[in-house]
Amino acid sequence: MADVLDTARAIARCRAAESARPAGERLFEDPLARLFAGDGDAGAEDAVAAFARVPFFAEQVRLRTRYLDDLVRAEIARGARDVVVLGAGFDTRALRLAEIARHGVRVHEIDFPEQHARRRATLDQAGVALPSYLRFLDCDLSHPDALANLTGPLADGACRPGSGAVFLLEGVISYIEDDAVERTFRFVADAGGPGSRIGFNYTASRFNRRSLASLLEAGGLNPVEDLDLAAVHRRYLPGEPPPGGDLFGIATAERR
Ligand SMILES: C[S@@+](CC[C@H](N)C(=O)[O-])C[C@H]1O[C@@H](n2cnc3c(N)ncnc32)[C@H](O)[C@@H]1O
Repeated sequence: MADVLDTARAIARCRAAESARPAGERLFEDPLARLFAGDGDAGAEDAVAAFARVPFFAEQVRLRTRYLDDLVRAEIARGARDVVVLGAGFDTRALRLAEIARHGVRVHEIDFPEQHARRRATLDQAGVALPSYLRFLDCDLSHPDALANLTGPLADGACRPGSGAVFLLEGVISYIEDDAVERTFRFVADAGGPGSRIGFNYTASRFNRRSLASLLEAGGLNPVEDLDLAAVHRRYLPGEPPPGGDLFGIATAERR
């Protein structure tokens, strides 16, 4: 089983592959993804090999990335001025979505301290400066008190009154138990303020529409949209999706 930190390298590799497609065929461009791909690193190669066995895996990464990019852009257009990335890994939206800098949005990235250290070291080495509106917060989402402890620092100006926030939980649910997912939803409701939304993806083997709806309800959130990735493929790409899109779901929910 791949180390959980290294799973983010496999995702970065999918995003690097997307960025190498011709301009007219890309769903997004992530010029920094290649830096995080960990070519030749044993942990990264294990993670890439494990995910390569999952049908539709690379396809779902490109589709979910675009879906969540669009969510962030739409929420900024609706007035959100904070983006909170839970289990951020090597997410580069703070650096690549022009709307973030243009609208004075702050980005709060949450992950294990070791993952933040890897990210900083890689960007440092590449000479990429971290923008002042990006900050890293250490947290183990599985720890029962971790999110409660984060609410303070986030409320401390992070989720500005009336402006709402957009939260992302991308590629993370597979690594945390249901009670941690529920606490994370509750955290969004408590820390986010009115109008806040979360986008997250999940596997159909873990949740169905009903079980997900009851977890959202328990966490104080209402579903806004819940799609399988075959539907997301039809939204963004011509033709019929390859088999396997129904194995993956992606959803948006909002604070009740
Ligand atoms: C598959 S990667 C996805 C990274 C990123 N969200 C993306 O889509 O590129 C999973 C990330 O979740 C983080 N993660 C997993 N379990 C976590 C936990 N209990 N607390 C904090 N972060 C966690 C890992 O460290 C890793 O960076």
